[in-house]
Amino acid sequence: MITLYRKYRPSTFEELIGQEHIKKYFEKSIEKNEISHAYIFSGPRGTGKTTTARILSKVLNCENPNGHNPCNSCEKCIAINNGSFMDVIELDAASNRGIDEIRKIRDAANFRPVSGKYKVYIIDEFHMLTKEAFNALLKTLEEPPEHVIFILATTNLEKVPETIISRAQVLQFKNISEAEISKHIINISRKENRNITEDAANLIAKKAKGGARDALSLLEQLLKFSNTDITQNDVIKILGLFDEKIVKDFLNAIYKKDNEKLLNISSMIFNEGKEIEVFLEEILEYILNNIRNNETLEKNLYIAKKLSELLKEIKYSENKKILFDVNVLLLSSGIYHEKDEEINLSNIKTYKENINNTTEKLTSKVLDILLNKKEKMNLGLYFALKNAKINEKDDYIKILYEKENLLEYQIVKNSSTILELLYSTLTNHLIKIDIIYEDNSDEKTRKNNILKLF
Ligand SMILES: Nc1ncnc2c1ncn2[C@@H]1O[C@H](COP(=O)(O)OP(=O)(O)OP(=O)(O)O)[C@@H](O)[C@H]1O
Ligand SMILES: [Mg+2]
Ligand SMILES: [Zn+2]
Repeated sequence: MITLYRKYRPSTFEELIGQEHIKKYFEKSIEKNEISHAYIFSGPRGTGKTTTARILSKVLNCENPNGHNPCNSCEKCIAINNGSFMDVIELDAASNRGIDEIRKIRDAANFRPVSGKYKVYIIDEFHMLTKEAFNALLKTLEEPPEHVIFILATTNLEKVPETIISRAQVLQFKNISEAEISKHIINISRKENRNITEDAANLIAKKAKGGARDALSLLEQLLKFSNTDITQNDVIKILGLFDEKIVKDFLNAIYKKDNEKLLNISSMIFNEGKEIEVFLEEILEYILNNIRNNETLEKNLYIAKKLSELLKEIKYSENKKILFDVNVLLLSSGIYHEKDEEINLSNIKTYKENINNTTEKLTSKVLDILLNKKEKMNLGLYFALKNAKINEKDDYIKILYEKENLLEYQIVKNSSTILELLYSTLTNHLIKIDIIYEDNSDEKTRKNNILKLF
């Protein structure tokens, strides 16, 4: 049986979800017939790079293009969809890393297309090519034959030499939003004649973390798992997630210093073979989602801070259970509180009264809070955040660092959960933050080539 994500690979730009800037870009450039000889598609896994490469190959060779979209019914489109079109060549650089492969391409590229208008070479994960192979590719990109187009896809643009980047049009694919993935999941389920509840689709979307392929793989598992309507409970079961009740019980046990209960929950998780990291992530998410509850806010922020530290540590630990138990017992006993400065929230509360749900200049408020003398521990974070370029847009805050600010970037990255909580507390709703490190070694060439997203 064909996998769900293959079955529903978009065949036109219209069907592609998210990636509006990419669609717009190709709509314009195809309309104006401004086709580049080399494109770099960079971005996370399963967000549409290969799919877009195929759509582009089709529209460039299509006999009856529909505006900027391929017809999908002419001989050429059908052959490309089947993978049997001689002039569209796909190569996986992860398994063909060497120079011979690229030399073959270089030689073949000089011949005219067999039946299409363009010869299109799609090279996946091309950052894996060896140095010699890169150099051979570079030669071809320097003097590309008129009828040849290279589409170079990568999940790892940092590993691509500047020399290649500067010769290509770079298009950056983005993670797809939860809302869009959720809608997509519901649509595909409908096409499969199956029902899925909205909260189940939302949970799949959340767990897919921006990737459409992962979302469809999860959906496929769920469709196989049951024959009835798919509910949020099914998703929880299949993904090994935790019932919200356990998360609540756990937090209550911490408040009440109920050590026996805490150890019971811990044993239950480990005995059932569930992942403790997932549990910790869910507690953090839960706290973040319930940020409006002011009574436990202060306590929860503190717990979140400690658990996010634990999460980082436990990922690389071999003795997860002991590490978990010790830290959780310390947390409930309150020993931490005496050792560390507690997070002082009195000024957060005043700010809250003064602002009415606007994110404007939010960061300066966060900085004020961090500077508060009672929170010595946050001084490092204060200076690190102060050195960032900030872009606030509705519920989304981009924190950008340039090459020379690697240390600041790392500090802020390590405190991302706490920052997200601070921002969210200030506005009284969920704020997403994105912390980005830009290694602009050769800023000019990059700036000229990377299609700006905002
Ligand atoms: N933007 C999108 N819209 C709709 N479906 C998508 C999108 N991106 C990915 N998919 C789904 O995921 C599948 C895989 O997508 P694709 O091969 O284009 O990902 P990719 O970005 O090339 O990933 P990788 O980096 O792993 O090669 C598609 O067949 C499709 O079902
Ligand atoms: Mg791909
Ligand atoms: Zn066609």
